[in-house]
Order: sequence, then structure tokens, then C-alpha cells
Amino acid sequence: MNSERDFNEIIMSLARKRGFIWGPSPELYGGSSGFYDLGPLGKLLKNRLENQIRAAFVRANFWEVECPTVSPREVWLASGHLEGFIDPVTECTKCGQIYRADNLIAEKSPEMNIAGLNADGLTETIRKIGLVCPSCKGDLGPVQAYNLMMQTRLGLNQEAYLRPETATTTYLLFKRFLTFFRDKLPAAVFQIGKAYRNEISPRQGMLRLREFTQTEGQIFLLEKDEMDWSQFHDITDEKLPLVTYKAQEKGKFDSIMTKMSDAVKNGFFQKPAYAWCVHLAYTIFRQMGFSDEKMRLRQHLPTERAHYAADAWDVEIHTESFGWVECCGIHDRGNYDLSRHQEFSKQNLSVKVDKEYVVPEVLEIAFGIERPLFCLIDNSFRPESKERDTDWLQFPPEVAPIQVAVFPLMGKPELLTPSEKIYDAVMDAGFVAQFDVGGSIGKRYRRQDEVGTPFCITIDYTTIEDETITVRDRDTMEQVRVHTSDLTKVLRGLVRGTIQFNSLK
Ligand code: GLY
Repeated sequence: MNSERDFNEIIMSLARKRGFIWGPSPELYGGSSGFYDLGPLGKLLKNRLENQIRAAFVRANFWEVECPTVSPREVWLASGHLEGFIDPVTECTKCGQIYRADNLIAEKSPEMNIAGLNADGLTETIRKIGLVCPSCKGDLGPVQAYNLMMQTRLGLNQEAYLRPETATTTYLLFKRFLTFFRDKLPAAVFQIGKAYRNEISPRQGMLRLREFTQTEGQIFLLEKDEMDWSQFHDITDEKLPLVTYKAQEKGKFDSIMTKMSDAVKNGFFQKPAYAWCVHLAYTIFRQMGFSDEKMRLRQHLPTERAHYAADAWDVEIHTESFGWVECCGIHDRGNYDLSRHQEFSKQNLSVKVDKEYVVPEVLEIAFGIERPLFCLIDNSFRPESKERDTDWLQFPPEVAPIQVAVFPLMGKPELLTPSEKIYDAVMDAGFVAQFDVGGSIGKRYRRQDEVGTPFCITIDYTTIEDETITVRDRDTMEQVRVHTSDLTKVLRGLVRGTIQFNSLK
């Protein structure tokens, strides 16, 4: 097996060549790390993931909103990001190169537990283990807090920041939500939009972006709702691959499929509403096409949590490129955010409960879409084999960028005309299809395998006789004949997984 670095190179070079991911962007000017362009297939794939996430939130009764990506300083002072959204950095005293101190220490001494150490503690650790600049071997300077937000200005001189998360901008609408939801809690909303983080030296390609798209769902609710969450009863028998922080403290990182009712009974989750959010995040990842074998839900260690989080679990995906990758955070934000915005804005963000005013709690599910996108390409990669003379992508049909390819057997008018009719019907039925008439059929199948198209349709001379076409299954490379009048119904079933290809034989 290739090393992780080699595998990532294979994936990124494939993603570049086949029009998924280009960059670092802007390539014409040498590129800045942390920025990538999506090519046509990358954008289709991203749209599909976004649609799966959107559909799952809407099905779970979340309402979508959209807010500006730039907000004035007061917002980020109130949210705690000005003070708390920081990375520890150290500068080489000889060559001036800047590094993330925690990453450098972890690379040199992976066994050291540095979680929760402040700047002085990290400086001391650097001295203790004799860490020097990896590039020139110079001495490293004292560790300093570096804020990850990108600064800009409004008009001439009003200090402002590009949002590092959509969540805060959603919370600013809380008073509006109360009116919209007729003062009823729980209320659930979500936002899909760009966020920005000025990573000091982003290295892991698509995993560390300075600009990315977040999808963040927020539930505003009362403490009593958190304990008495009726939807939890629908999922008590569901099993999730969990890794608790206590297990990690004992050095155990393998997930255990755990029934949700047991997870709550055993205190892995204190609140059924929060447990339900973790389950919703898991469901969304299943719908995006990730399997249980490649997924685990890992609880943060208390020292690892963000400044606003009372409890936090991550959905992690296993990749050949980078091992386990954090793809989604589920956070119990308590009433931290609304209390802070109430204090700083001097507006009342509380609600009346039994004659008392209380500030509601917030539970959050936070995704960046580019990470699952990269992980899906990584997980779908299949190398060239005896049976197939090209490496290919086994995307789950529902999220494949192109779902159907349409081929006339030959570029003759008597085949082109019915092929174009079939192509139009497939497009009209809502599939993204590609019409390809160039080269041998074998070459055309190969081109579609390379970009992960699950089904190819060929129109041949039998089609003219009996109105049947062949449907070829990417995974088995087998073909069946289907009547054209059944085609879109069959394709819909195949793509959604409600019809198995074998059942058509
Ligand atoms: N809103 C939480 C996060 O950005 O991770």
C-alpha cells in the first residue's frame, strides 16, 4: 500500500486531471495555499452533497436562512472569537518562518499530551524537547496566540471580520426567530454559506482551507426540552459507532456500535436532545454515502473543546490519504452565545418560562462541505485491476456528479436521432447526463468509470427494432436491456437504490 502522502498525491492528481479540484488558487499567479477552485465535476459533487444535507435538515424541521459573511468587530468581541479563536504560533528567530506550535510538537513527539497547554506551556515544551526550525534548524521564539479571523473594514475605517463560522451570524437573528416561530421553542434553523479562517500555514490540501462552505444547523431550546426530547424515542434502537472521551483516555480509539438508549443510559450523552443531534449528523453522513466502516463518532476530550462548547462530538471519516479526518462537529453550546449577545448588544434575548426570564440553550451541528467532498473522492477511489484497465471512482449513485451517460453505438444519423431523444428525456427527468459519441464504446465506458458515473446507456440497432436500450452498471460492468418507456423510472430506482441492478436481469 502507498504511504498516506503518496495516496493523497494520487487523489489530488486524479481530482485535478478529471476536473474536480484545481489549485491552489489562483493557479495563474502561483496559487495561495488554503484556496482551491472546483472544476465542473467538483462543483456538481459539492451541489449533490449540499442538497443531501439541505434535504436532511428540512426533513428534520430546520428552516434555512442566509446572513452576510462580514460583520463588525462588536459581533466577534461578543461571540468570543476575538479572544478565543486562536492558534498558538512560533516564529523561527533565524529565518522568520512561522509555524503552528502544537502541530510541530505533535510531529516531533506524537506521544506527548499537550491538549489544553497555554502559550507559556507550549514554549516550555518546545525548549524541553529541543525543537528547532524544521527548515533552517534555528531556535524557535516564544509561542504566541494568533487570531484566525480575516480582518477587513467597512467604509473608511470600521473594523470588521469575515465570519469564521456561520453559527454566530445565525444567533444574531434570534429575536427575529422568536417572532417567526410565534414565540415557540424549540426552533431549528440552518445556514449554508462561506466561512473564512486565516490558517497560518495550511498544509493538508482540501482539509485546511482559508475559505470554505459551512452548513450549520442550530436548535434553540430550553433546558427542559433538552432532557425531554420526543424525537429521541424514534432513534433509541439505532446503533452508532461511538468513541467516548473516557475510552480515549484509556488509549482506546476504536468505535463501538452502541445503541442510542444505552449511550444515554450510560451517560455518554447527558441530554437526549443532544444525542438526537449526534444521530442526525450521523444520518446525514450516511446519506452522503459514507459507510459505518469508514465512520466514527468521537467525543472531544474536555481540554479539546472550543471556547463555547459544553460537550462536543465529531463525525470522523477514515481516509487513505490522512487517516481519520474530522468532518463535522456537534456542539452543546449551552446558553453561551445568546447570553453573550444579550450582554454585548444590550437587547433582551431571553424568553419567559413559568414567570421567569431565561436565555435559551443552543445545540449545533456544524459541517464544512469540502472535507466530506474530499473524503468521498478518497473513499471512492478504486485502483486499476485485471478486470478494468483504469483506476475508477465508485461514488454512491445518488451523489455521483454525472449519474447517467448516453452513447449512440455509432455516430450514424439513424442512431443519433433516437439517442438525442433519450438524452433529452433523461435530462428532463432531472438527472445530470452526459452525451458522448467519441471513440469506441469501451473507451467511452472507461471515461465514465474514471469520473464515477454509475450508469451508461447505449442505443444500438436493436433499439430501432424493439425500442430497448442497454443499461450498463459501473460496479459489475454488466448490462441489461430496458424498454425505453421504463427507462427514467428504472434509472430513478437505480440511483436511489430502490431498484437493484441484479433484479433487472
Ligand atoms: N460553528 C462551529 C464551527 O465552526 O466549528
